[in-house]
Amino acid sequence: TVGVFVASDYSALCAQVADRIDALVRSKPDAVLGLATGATPLGVYAELVKRHREEGLDFSRVTCFNLDEYYPMSPKSLHSYRQFMSLNLFDYLNCKHWSVPDGRPSTFPQIETLCRDYEDAIRDSGGIDLQLLGVGRTGHMGFNEPGSSVHSRTRLVTLADVTRQDAAPGFGGLKNVPTQAITMGVGTILEARQIVMMASGAAKADIVRRVMTEDISAQLPASFVRLHENAVLCLDQAANG
Ligand code: GLP
Repeated sequence: TVGVFVASDYSALCAQVADRIDALVRSKPDAVLGLATGATPLGVYAELVKRHREEGLDFSRVTCFNLDEYYPMSPKSLHSYRQFMSLNLFDYLNCKHWSVPDGRPSTFPQIETLCRDYEDAIRDSGGIDLQLLGVGRTGHMGFNEPGSSVHSRTRLVTLADVTRQDAAPGFGGLKNVPTQAITMGVGTILEARQIVMMASGAAKADIVRRVMTEDISAQLPASFVRLHENAVLCLDQAANG
């Protein structure tokens, strides 16, 4: 079972999630965070930057691993998740160790090795203490689309059409959205010691309800968080339906 927390609105939701990260980093200064992209966590990142600036919340010994990256994708592209994390978080924090999977097409021959290296880096860091997750309309977490096994690991995946359509406005059209991505697997995600899945807004109410009530299955990968013993679903009222 998953604890469910419903905040009154998006800013209260983000403050509540930031509180969890803040408490972890204060109690464990060398904590390892798993981070997500998308619009949902943006308010959390803004809150962490504010606490760093105003309260000295210290990330100098924190290590961060992001869930996923488009493929193919240059790390310098404004569409890359690497840039997204720079521009929305890491340019404003004193965090020295942060990684996003490498989506450069030149990596193709070694992609399996790179995925294994990413897993090894997570393990060598001591493992993820807190994994932040959003949820896609297909029920994906990271880019684990329907069909992703509970045992899946970091790998190259094909994106669902709905996921590409949701990303299209940011890319100036569907044809510009990559068809693939590199994502941590469901198995990788479930090894985190704590999972915080966030959802905000009425557009997420239906998928949130499905994630909470439908059978846990690979057809709805986000439902796998219900197998975790220390997972919470943090919603605003609109996402709670
Ligand atoms: C993308 C990301 C996911 C994210 C999802 C939802 O597909 N790979 O990690 O959770 O979008 O994004 P948003 O928060 O913008 O709804």
